[in-house]
Amino acid sequence: MENNRIAVMASGKGSNLQVILDEIAIGRCPAKVEVVICNKADAGALSIARAAGVPKVVYLNPEDYESRESFDAACAEIIKAAACRWIILAGYMRILSADFIHEFPNQIINIHPSLLPAFVGGDAVGDALKHGVKIAGCTVHLVSEALDSGPILAQVSVPVLDSDDRNALHQRIQTEEHKIYPATISRLITSGFAIHDRSVVWDDVA
Ligand code: GRF
Repeated sequence: MENNRIAVMASGKGSNLQVILDEIAIGRCPAKVEVVICNKADAGALSIARAAGVPKVVYLNPEDYESRESFDAACAEIIKAAACRWIILAGYMRILSADFIHEFPNQIINIHPSLLPAFVGGDAVGDALKHGVKIAGCTVHLVSEALDSGPILAQVSVPVLDSDDRNALHQRIQTEEHKIYPATISRLITSGFAIHDRSVVWDDVA
């Protein structure tokens, strides 16, 4: 299996997918997006993937499956058939089953709009604002069974301004997401890593 073949799973507008595809197109990221899977028919990620010529672009309707496990098994089949080494969650708003996570150990990557371990869950930006933090950010991490809790691969902070609402803060965070996600995917492809306790130690660090 080639180390640079990736599958992207997304539910939303797909801006992270777009920047990953853009960085690949200009030769700054050595990944190949072989598969995009969406669980929402109206996900912007579907049209972004088709426009970029991703070889396999799939919408799967969760209602067509009798369980989370069977839906995830269908996703796993598609990913394995395309021999993808990495599974990149880019705004995938669905909890993955334990079976799926165990099938791809340390191969599933997520980006989360907070400085984990603060503010896990679906409204991290709103929760950060409600809490009154002065620094927010984003985290790229390996996916483990506990929500938003796997070992951290990369993290960037941004200031929270007094004038911020949810949208303004999320936009500032996304500007950073769009840099660290393609950069971290590049690093996954070009460098191995080890996990000590829960710390990621990259092989490319001298
Ligand atoms: C990002 O903010 C990411 O951190 C979160 O979902 C959002 C996806 O945005 N997991 P997009 O669909 O890539 O624009």
